[in-house]
Amino acid sequence: MHSTCPVGVFDSGVGGLSVLREIHQLMPHEELLYVADSAHAPYGDKPKEFILERSTAIIEFFLSHKVKAIVVACNTATAAAVKELRGIYDLPMVAMEPAVKPAVEQTHTGVVGVLATSRTINSNNFQILFARFAEQAQIIAQPCPGLVDQVELGELDSAKTRSLVGQFVFPLLEQKADVLVLGCTHYPFLKPVIQEIAGATVKVIDSGAAIARRLHSLLQHHGLLSDLNSPGEVQFFSSSDNGGADKVISELWGSPVKTLELLNKYSY
Ligand code: DGL
Repeated sequence: MHSTCPVGVFDSGVGGLSVLREIHQLMPHEELLYVADSAHAPYGDKPKEFILERSTAIIEFFLSHKVKAIVVACNTATAAAVKELRGIYDLPMVAMEPAVKPAVEQTHTGVVGVLATSRTINSNNFQILFARFAEQAQIIAQPCPGLVDQVELGELDSAKTRSLVGQFVFPLLEQKADVLVLGCTHYPFLKPVIQEIAGATVKVIDSGAAIARRLHSLLQHHGLLSDLNSPGEVQFFSSSDNGGADKVISELWGSPVKTLELLNKYSY
């Protein structure tokens, strides 16, 4: 493994781009490979075994491209599969954690709302995270079915998206939440709408920048930080062949997307 090798970043779809942009901003000289498994998004309503199998197939693809580290830029895949993945693969791996710790530090009302997928909320990881901060603040988890799909469609500000955001955010505001944690990597793309609906006095935070810092320190620790002087290339791959998610990636990032075929034994 060499410092000039790329870092592999993946998500069930386009959401991980919100993490990728933080990585690219902090470490512009790193070569990055991004896989959007949009043919199978959302992961949230799929069985754990399926998510593990998809994650494994994507990591094998990354390994065939000689990556030096992996970023699981998906809270749902982290919750469902990261323990097993760390057991299988012996290379630096960064995974998601909803930004509950900074939220608890910033709340004045003592109430924090967490927007995430049901699978993330119901996971062991999340219950442990909740328990860790339960004495410091009231943490209210809000599942948001349908929001990932809206981002996959590129509907960042449509009437349907606004209505869903309102449906999920208003109950949290009614319970006096003054910090909202975006516990799904798709949601930072909805931050302008979420912030507008929540109002200026509510803080809306995510963990993208913290994940980028974590990757930086891990690469540094392993002596793997890129020493290139030129900007690192960012390459995009999508499992979707209908052009939808690819169009969204191209719009959000402004780069062309390659189609990626990764077989799995399940059929959806
Ligand atoms: N971006 C994924 C996450 O962070 C979306 C989840 C899904 O596909 O259900 O959880």
